[in-house]
Amino acid sequence: MRRLYLILAILALASCGKQGEHFVIGVSQCSEDAWRGKLKSELEMANFFHDGIELRFVSAHDDSQLQEKQVDSLVAQGIDLLIISPNQQTQLLPSIERAFDSGIPVILFDRKIASEKYTSFMGVDNFEIGKLLGQYAGENLAKGSKLIEIKGLEDSSPANERHNGFISAIRSYPQIQIVGEAHGDWTRESGYKAMESILSAYDGPVDCIMGGNDRMAEGALEALRRHRPDARPMVLGVDALPGKGEGIQLVRDSILTASAIYPTHGDELLDLAVSILNSRSCLKEYIMPTSLVTSGNARILLLQNEELERSNKSIRQAKKQIENIRIAMNNQQMLLLSVVAILLISLISIIIIAREYRKNKRLSQILAEQKEIAEAQRDELELERDRLIEAQLANRESNEVNEILSGREEIFRAENEFMQRFKNVLKDNLSNEEFGVEQIGAELGYSRVQLYRKVKAMTGKSPVEFIRSTRLAYAKLMLSDSSLSVSEVAYRVGFSSPSYFSKCFKEEFGSLPSNN
Ligand code: FRU
Repeated sequence: MRRLYLILAILALASCGKQGEHFVIGVSQCSEDAWRGKLKSELEMANFFHDGIELRFVSAHDDSQLQEKQVDSLVAQGIDLLIISPNQQTQLLPSIERAFDSGIPVILFDRKIASEKYTSFMGVDNFEIGKLLGQYAGENLAKGSKLIEIKGLEDSSPANERHNGFISAIRSYPQIQIVGEAHGDWTRESGYKAMESILSAYDGPVDCIMGGNDRMAEGALEALRRHRPDARPMVLGVDALPGKGEGIQLVRDSILTASAIYPTHGDELLDLAVSILNSRSCLKEYIMPTSLVTSGNARILLLQNEELERSNKSIRQAKKQIENIRIAMNNQQMLLLSVVAILLISLISIIIIAREYRKNKRLSQILAEQKEIAEAQRDELELERDRLIEAQLANRESNEVNEILSGREEIFRAENEFMQRFKNVLKDNLSNEEFGVEQIGAELGYSRVQLYRKVKAMTGKSPVEFIRSTRLAYAKLMLSDSSLSVSEVAYRVGFSSPSYFSKCFKEEFGSLPSNN
């Protein structure tokens, strides 16, 4: 039985297959928008090529307090690594430090915090982005141009760095005048509102809008056009996403003048996370490249992106198919293992049953032999008792003979009656193996000695011998008359051991019962 459990355990283990390490990566997104959506799908796609990595996404919808709670909750869930774009620095700093202090590697993505408590940062140099756009404005704006800057969310690192980079470049072009600046919160609506509030205090011309991102720039332009329908300012932004209605298309359609690419590179981000999880060394900073999208390259970039989308679609389809095949294979494997397990269990059961059967057979053989011995011994004992009676009676024999001789006819009648009763009683109890001299004596109202004397006188046999002969005579009758087997006949005439029956039968009739 123990062997059976062992086999089943091995089968169960085998059915689990080889399980590699399993890691959970928490991805804390600050916002929910096209840029974050692109990052998410890149991460998911890249994860097709990694086994045992679970990505757990949460989004704070631009709410720093909510993001703080979400980070704490991810840590409590026991994630193995945290990827986070902190909405704002001050609010998020403590929870990120808490996560890092609890031993969880932290990758800051795209946005930073003013702390060293993180494992690695991956993103674009936002100062560089601001500078690039500042230089573009400086080189392309006419002398005396008026510029309005809509900055990103206050206290978020890209907003500050882009602004600083932009100002550092614009300073080299003193002919450009910044006539207004305000913060948005990265959304289109916030760009609109920021422009509205600037225009409420400024009614001069606007030659350039510098947006902290494309969405805010577009919103600000809309607000400007509402007040000055003829305005045709230079509009600069950041992100240059490839999707419909996004940055590159806006540049192609001349709504934006230029946009700095703010890449997502989710595949590189996941590779970095996986190598940290595998304890490989990593740099403190990974800076992704950027470049300007202008009317000169917007079209070609869109075409390239369409190609990319097509191959991404094929990859997704292939992944789905692989997933289906894997599910089918797992099912088949389970089925196969179940069949093997059932076969093994059946085989082992058959072996156990066969063994038990053999054991039982041997036991019943031993039992039959013991029965035979017991039966023979019992008969022998009875005969011994009869012999004893015979000896006791020997000296009283002559008196008995005289008794028999006088009034012989009555005695004969009585004896005939006695014999008839004797035979009837025996016949009624023929199959009862327990029914012997004592019982017949009790039935007929004779003591053992009386019975002995009577039977011996009438048959020349002791009662035991006579009983056995009578049983055997019935047996002979049954054997010649019916289709009963030897064992059945033996039981019917009161033998419990068929082999002992055969032995007695041979002694009585000179041939085995099977020959009758
Ligand atoms: C997306 C976004 C981008 C911007 C970046 C700054 O959520 O607002 O538009 O460039 O975040 O972190």
